[in-house]
Amino acid sequence: MQSKALLDAWRQRIDGFLAAQLPPASESPQRLHEAMRYAVLGDGKRLRPLLVYAAAHAVNRASAQQMAALDHAAAAVELIHAYSLVHDDLPAMDDDALRRGRPTVHVAFDEATAILVGDALQSEAFHLLANAPAPAEARVAALAELARASGSRGMCGGQALDMAATGNNQSLEALAHMHRLKTGALIEASLMLGGYLVNADDSALRVLQRIGAELGLGFQIRDDLLDVEADSATLGKTAGKDEAQSKSTYVTLLGLDGARARLAECAQALEAALKQLPGGTNENGQALSDLAAFAIQRAR
Ligand code: IPE
Ligand code: IPE
Ligand code: MG
Ligand code: MG
Ligand code: MG
Repeated sequence: MQSKALLDAWRQRIDGFLAAQLPPASESPQRLHEAMRYAVLGDGKRLRPLLVYAAAHAVNRASAQQMAALDHAAAAVELIHAYSLVHDDLPAMDDDALRRGRPTVHVAFDEATAILVGDALQSEAFHLLANAPAPAEARVAALAELARASGSRGMCGGQALDMAATGNNQSLEALAHMHRLKTGALIEASLMLGGYLVNADDSALRVLQRIGAELGLGFQIRDDLLDVEADSATLGKTAGKDEAQSKSTYVTLLGLDGARARLAECAQALEAALKQLPGGTNENGQALSDLAAFAIQRAR
């Protein structure tokens, strides 16, 4: 199958799976369940779940049973991501009113509900992954990786560094570290989960990790650029917020041209890492290559 057709098929697959797995809005507590569905099922790019499928496909064509396990992993990373967005938008953090083209969860519902949505999505992510139809060893490796990537040495830690750096100068080295944690960790975990669940060997896992590291940083540099280059309607979130809030980003530190140059370096390193996939970028790896290129060149 062509890479575009594969990515479209995986996208439909994960949207259907998420809609089926999230508690129905009719189940008590209705308001919480309605808000969880609102946070997850909106118009997101689903980059992280697609990375789970594409990484698995790049190293080892998945059996039907493995595809079922990948659904659980793909949903788990999207739930952690959606939780991180709901909390990122809260008044105590970035105080954003627009996300995925509609009011943020704390605006559409209320702040307490938004906090609980994040908490519950995080738990649901681990619940789903723990119940993936996969051998215990692969499941435990995936659970440990997702836990590490979400915590204070991963996404949450990066968010803490982001808050501490807001309004302050930081070195380029510190900024790269912050980006690798707040965004890179979960992107890297998405690739690793795909690898674990199709039994990738150690050398393939090392390549996936390298791809994840470059892609994670590149993805957030692109996000920093889009905040300046794009408009709110295109982004589905408020543009121009980083400068308005004195956020520390690649653009605020290096300027537009500097950020673009650093992203181009990331793109090169990413291409080199992709070539190290088993079989290079042959047709199995094409979906992952295309997805990676999209992630760092995207217009929204
Ligand atoms: C936005 O992520 C938050 C960052 C980590 C930069 P995405 O750009 O992947 O958001 P959605 O999922 O498409 O809404
Ligand atoms: C958020 O980074 C990263 C996480 C949610 C972990 P940003 O604050 O730059 O994301 P946006 O721009 O609001 O989507
Ligand atoms: Mg933020
Ligand atoms: Mg934000
Ligand atoms: Mg941003």
